[in-house]
Amino acid sequence: IKMIPDKAPGEEVLHASGDLKKQAHIPSFEKYKELYIRSVESPEEFWGDVAEDFFWKTKYTGKFLDYNFDVTKGDIFVKCMEGATTNICYNVLDRNVHERKLGDKVAFYWEGNEPGDEKTVTYRELLQQVCKFANVLKSQGVKKGDRVSIYMPMVVELVVAMLACARIGAVHAIVFAGFSAESLCERIMDSQCCILITADGFYRGDKLISLKLIADEVPWNPEVDLCWHSLIGGASEECEPVWCDSEDPLFILYTSGSTGKPKGVLHTVSGYMLYTAATFKLVFDYHSDDVYWCTADIGWITGHSYITYGPLANGATSVLFEGLPTYPDVSRMWEIVDKYHVSKFYTAPTAIRLLMKYGSEPVQKYNRTSLKILGTVGEPINPEAWQWYYSVVGEKRCPVVDTFWQTETGGHVMTPLPAATPMKPGSATFPFFGVVPAILNESGEELEGPSEGYLVFKQPWPGVMRTVYGNHERFETTYFKKFPGFYVTGDGCRRDKDGYYWITGRIDDMLNVSGHLLSTAEVESALVEHEAVAEAAVVGRPHPVKGESLYCFVTLNDGINYNQKLEVELKKQVREKIGAIATPDYIQNAPGLPKTRSGKIMRRVLRKIACNEQDLGDVSTLADSSVIEQLFENRCCTAV
Ligand code: PRX
Repeated sequence: IKMIPDKAPGEEVLHASGDLKKQAHIPSFEKYKELYIRSVESPEEFWGDVAEDFFWKTKYTGKFLDYNFDVTKGDIFVKCMEGATTNICYNVLDRNVHERKLGDKVAFYWEGNEPGDEKTVTYRELLQQVCKFANVLKSQGVKKGDRVSIYMPMVVELVVAMLACARIGAVHAIVFAGFSAESLCERIMDSQCCILITADGFYRGDKLISLKLIADEVPWNPEVDLCWHSLIGGASEECEPVWCDSEDPLFILYTSGSTGKPKGVLHTVSGYMLYTAATFKLVFDYHSDDVYWCTADIGWITGHSYITYGPLANGATSVLFEGLPTYPDVSRMWEIVDKYHVSKFYTAPTAIRLLMKYGSEPVQKYNRTSLKILGTVGEPINPEAWQWYYSVVGEKRCPVVDTFWQTETGGHVMTPLPAATPMKPGSATFPFFGVVPAILNESGEELEGPSEGYLVFKQPWPGVMRTVYGNHERFETTYFKKFPGFYVTGDGCRRDKDGYYWITGRIDDMLNVSGHLLSTAEVESALVEHEAVAEAAVVGRPHPVKGESLYCFVTLNDGINYNQKLEVELKKQVREKIGAIATPDYIQNAPGLPKTRSGKIMRRVLRKIACNEQDLGDVSTLADSSVIEQLFENRCCTAV
């Protein structure tokens, strides 16, 4: 708590307008600080107020939040509201329709890839569809606790499918529709899903993605394929929710792991519900007349928390967009903002940087006076992109909330509150309620005041992940072993003289390409599976739009020549193994790789070579320094 300043600084910062402050849930920094202290000192009281908005079949019996974050003291665990029973689908739909009388309110304005392709779904209609589909799942034998894999485009049916699972206590495991058959298969096997819900296909821009054909590459018996529309036609609109325990699993979502194999991040019912509801309401300062639009895909955590659960828990109206920011032209986003009078808009720095390239004219063609708050997520936002977003898109009227969080955290953990927190472009500012950050040095000592090091958290908040599905040991090793007593984010962080936190990016072997996390090991193992490749090393190279691009060094087997045909094959190989998001940008033939005497590849040196930085720092541990010159000579200057 002492790391949060008493007063926000008066200089170098940008403030929300008086109008926004007048109506805001958290109108000032003083109010934030007061509530923050309460949230940390009395979590039960703070979250108890949030929980009051929801329906509980039975009340919790034990501690509000029980946990162990210290591996030296036993197993790591987090439990929130144990003993309570509820249903998240009931809370985000039935409660809104029946108790809050929001049945006729629009839940989603669905905007298709093709302009003019649109539909509107109210809360009542969404509830009906969810009940029908929940009955379909039941008729297929799906029961509480069963895992259901979902591989679908951004259509209303995707939301229906996930909420239908939640209604009957089944655990959804959504796989982003850009992943390959092999990635889908790996996730289905790991989570032991009993059923896969998919679609024929969809258009992304002018490209047709045939999901069903991709899914069919997964070993599959055609006799068990069933059609959504024929099943749902005859299904009943009545479906009693299955009451779940607070700590029953809600979903599994895979995220890249530094060892290569993706981790099934598991979230549970009550804590996730409270956390996504509260962060949505306070970080976007939600009011009932808002039209909210998050451009993420539901296949990622941002879509889970801030398209489906958080907004619906608040009874919000959202835009659900199937397409791309550049199709049919680079004005599409602003056209949609204008069309639906979007007031809260949430996107990724990579999208901002992409659109920034086309200047302000495509933005200014459309009316954006409805906008009140702008959000960003997925990677550090460079101050230049922040300023463009703030000045050009938001006309300097709209605070920018730079929300730092992870698949693992369930919801925002470091973020400004739009009317309360004076903004510094590029800083995720301060912790959300209940979150206690710290910065550690390499030896695990907590640093005070202005400092830089590992970003960790000292205690859980309701929405933090509970385990890695099927591998609790991996959960403990990945997040808790390095610094006992702390949850380790894997990100570096700096705290400035005013106490503001600045996320500096991953400090493990992860890359962030267009806001998507990839592990270097995952891409390397896809490359070495090619018969021509003996060894591969992948590093990130800064990219003006994507944040980072993939620069791959490959050592070929003896007697094999490097040529363009091979390069094309290698690219294809990675796309097929992982998906288009992991397509290499550069591939360099590397007859030798820089290694330490113990045989460890020195990625730090490779990163410098990829960027053509001649000053390599200390290379005294290199086993054979002659490879360096050759690597510089063979550098790739243009992307493949
Ligand atoms: O490195 C951080 C970066 O994205 C990582 C989490 O990725 P993922 O689990 O895929 O979730 C992305 C959406 C929540 C983090 O470890 N990251 C995310 N948001 C920010 C960020 N880095 C800096 N600033 C952010 N606002």
